[in-house]
Amino acid sequence: TEMDHSGSIPKLMQKIGEDKPIYCSKMGAKNLEAHFNRKFNFQVVGTGDSLKIGNRTFSFLDTKMLHWPDSMFTYLAEEAILFSSDAFGQHYAGDMFFDDEIGDEIMPHARKYYANILLHFSPRVQALLKDVAKLNLKIDMICPDHGILWRDNPGKIIEAYDTWSRQEPTRKVVVIFDSMWESTAKMARAITSGIESEDVNVRLMNTRKWHRSDIMTEIVDAGAIAVGSPTLNNSIFPVIADVMTYIKGLRPQNKIAAAFGSYGWSGEAVKILNKDFEEMKLTIIDPGVKVQYVPDEADLERCFELGVKLAKTLKEKLS
Ligand SMILES: Cc1cc2nc3c(=O)[nH]c(=O)nc-3n(C[C@H](O)[C@H](O)[C@H](O)COP(=O)(O)O)c2cc1C
Repeated sequence: TEMDHSGSIPKLMQKIGEDKPIYCSKMGAKNLEAHFNRKFNFQVVGTGDSLKIGNRTFSFLDTKMLHWPDSMFTYLAEEAILFSSDAFGQHYAGDMFFDDEIGDEIMPHARKYYANILLHFSPRVQALLKDVAKLNLKIDMICPDHGILWRDNPGKIIEAYDTWSRQEPTRKVVVIFDSMWESTAKMARAITSGIESEDVNVRLMNTRKWHRSDIMTEIVDAGAIAVGSPTLNNSIFPVIADVMTYIKGLRPQNKIAAAFGSYGWSGEAVKILNKDFEEMKLTIIDPGVKVQYVPDEADLERCFELGVKLAKTLKEKLS
């Protein structure tokens, strides 16, 4: 019922006749009414129901919380098409409609969509994939409500969802930071060098340059994150707070973590970041590195060693 799916319903109904039935899930009926503050001719359908229109048969599968409470899959048996609502979508709009037209270029978009829209529902995605497999449906095409349609190899996006929803860590660390006067930035670069010295992949992401959704996309398959913030007004830097709030909501799992940051006098940032990690149930592998004002060689060496520790701990975990 989110407006990007439903916004044109009143206009459409005006055109085709307001008495026409709208087939939707139970929550769909409730939520559409709450959006448009009026009732339509809602016909509630759900898992196990089917609907014959002419020589076409539509059957339904509730997919609650993927990603709204009203979400539902619709399967068109005669054409072997799965209309998957938000699942398997991408925030992509272009002049191509099908996976075979765009090729593998679409996968980063699909991954970004998963990371930012569905990651926190990963256990439900796992359950849904099992349910769909049990139904043994012939699927020639998957039509999500966003982005391109999967007709060349629908199995590819199903497999990708299986991988992403398992949240299995890989040999990759994401280093996220912001900095007012470059001190925390220097620390971030030293940590990155430490990680690289252990032959582990690393993404260094300055929150001034990267949108939170790009950061989240990198986190999905990372085995570890390091977050750095200067202390500002006894707290963390607001942009880092923004990113941490966002990451927390999407509930990444199975990751190790460490914090770092420069400070002037009170230095609360590392403690606050560690508390965030605890709430996110990430494994904190080090109390974190704090540096007063500008890091000297010894401080940068401590940062390098933190990078080494992150990389080594991750490698041990994956071995
Ligand atoms: C507006 C402002 C507020 C600050 N508030 C604090 C503070 O409450 N506690 C503290 O320890 N340092 C505080 N600092 C000092 C910074 O944390 C310090 O300059 C640090 O080295 C900045 O790191 P950066 O170069 O990564 O930005 C503040 C700095 C600024 C500019």
